[in-house]
Amino acid sequence: MDKDGKRKKQASKSDGSRPADTEGGDAAEEPRLVALDGDALAAVDGLLRGRRTVHEFRPELPPRALVDEALDLSRWAPNHKHTTPWRWYRPGRRTIEKICGLNARTVRQTKGEEAARKKLERWLKLPGWLLLTAPVNEDDPLRHQEDYAACCCAAQNFMLALWARGIGSKWSTGPVTRHPELYQLLGIDPMAEHVVGIFWYGFPAQLMEGRREPLEKSVIDRP
Ligand SMILES: Cc1cc2nc3c(=O)[nH]c(=O)nc-3n(C[C@H](O)[C@H](O)[C@H](O)COP(=O)(O)O)c2cc1C
Repeated sequence: MDKDGKRKKQASKSDGSRPADTEGGDAAEEPRLVALDGDALAAVDGLLRGRRTVHEFRPELPPRALVDEALDLSRWAPNHKHTTPWRWYRPGRRTIEKICGLNARTVRQTKGEEAARKKLERWLKLPGWLLLTAPVNEDDPLRHQEDYAACCCAAQNFMLALWARGIGSKWSTGPVTRHPELYQLLGIDPMAEHVVGIFWYGFPAQLMEGRREPLEKSVIDRP
């Protein structure tokens, strides 16, 4: 423990050992800061750089155990004051079909019958579905924002953990994610939670090129 009573982290080179499991904060050992090197470091860098949003999926559903591992890893995202703000909704086939139908109806209103038919066909073929919500906190805008931020961190953990297992995903915030009927379909109280996104997942059928602006655009030095 340091002088503030916080646990001190120990640095070590990666030696293949796993960091202590700090499940629920009841770690049997002191947490260790593991500095990766060599292939392990290159793998992590490659994961961060190589994850892509997947727009075209193969039809088969990835093994549930792998998705559960990714969900489990998602909860290690930072969350201020340990609010555990994320809620993952896992719709079954009946609910998925209702969401697809709702989306097709909204598309029909703006883009017409043919666009709606195509969208319905496309959405019904999407393999894995999850929806993520964050808490609504109208009385405390800072908490609202920080909980949303933590949910976004959890989303990234989830997508990276999937990618490391060969599973791609897409975070969608299309209009249907804000539709009151979506909340009804999932039994979500819009006064208590807001939808962060739909997360489709599955094995990629096609991958897009990654594209980023140079780092200089985003880093601003000050004296
Ligand atoms: C908050 C958020 C919402 C997004 N919503 C959509 C969406 O509605 N439709 C879509 O095609 N992609 C969506 N994306 C994915 C981005 O378009 C994608 O991350 C971006 O094009 C960069 O591609 P990459 O993820 O492959 O690096 C969303 C991403 C974030 C972070």
